[in-house]
Amino acid sequence: MLELRNVNLSFEKKRILNDLNMKFDDGKRYVVLGNNGTGKSTIANLIMGVEKYKPQRGSVYLNGKNITSLGVYERSKLGITVAFQESVRFEGITTFNYLTLGGKIKASYSDAKRALELAGLNSEYLKRRVDDSLSGGERKRIELASVLMLKMRYVILDEPDSGIDMMSLDTISRIIDTLNSKGTTVITITHREEIAKNSDYAYLICSGTVLKEGPPTDIAAYYKKMCDRCDHPNEIIESVKELEHRKGVRA
Ligand SMILES: Nc1ncnc2c1ncn2[C@@H]1O[C@H](COP(=O)(O)OP(=O)(O)O)[C@@H](O)[C@H]1O
Ligand SMILES: [Mg+2]
Repeated sequence: MLELRNVNLSFEKKRILNDLNMKFDDGKRYVVLGNNGTGKSTIANLIMGVEKYKPQRGSVYLNGKNITSLGVYERSKLGITVAFQESVRFEGITTFNYLTLGGKIKASYSDAKRALELAGLNSEYLKRRVDDSLSGGERKRIELASVLMLKMRYVILDEPDSGIDMMSLDTISRIIDTLNSKGTTVITITHREEIAKNSDYAYLICSGTVLKEGPPTDIAAYYKKMCDRCDHPNEIIESVKELEHRKGVRA
């Protein structure tokens, strides 16, 4: 189980995450829903252990062990990975090499082909180089394929369809379900309520904290009703008192 306990994170004086508490049980599909600017990608970075995103207060636990001080490399060895919202660039190497981590993953050409196809690209791309000749959307699909190739315990998909024109809900659901069928806990971050429906449990994030959590259909319905017309989606709250007030009036 992966757990965030009372996590607080500020950049300079701006509070981004506020007493955030979340639990992710093994083998389940989670969705983290929320408007833009509410702190979702920050949560992904924090779970991954990215240096700049270490919490000032609170902790990250993996199976009861405090892993807050561990960095990205150590956490990835523990089985945590993220397909980031902005895909990373690995200039020059072929897609096949990228997908197999330069041979570190024992996988055949057909394994790589299958992963790529699940992410919506044909096998022609295996010979292509991961460089500027690829569009942002193609890069992102390759990133998703690479996550499918790894056998990780926890996979975070941060806005899996961002930057991709018309990625179908079916494709996203298939990626989530394929990962989950191998026992991976999948945490999908999104601002699209229809994606939430293909999960077992949902968290709704507002102002860097959990506003509501529970069955995905309920949470998605609440989000659609309340957050669509939210007039302060990007506002970062100044105090815990204000947060309590907001939770009280909006819960
Ligand atoms: N590295 C950073 N430095 C300063 N501010 C940041 C950084 N990363 C995120 N933020 C701020 O944190 C807030 C939440 O951002 P983010 O987590 O990306 O939101 P979301 O993914 O929900 O759209 C925003 O106000 C953003 O500007
Ligand atoms: Mg984001």
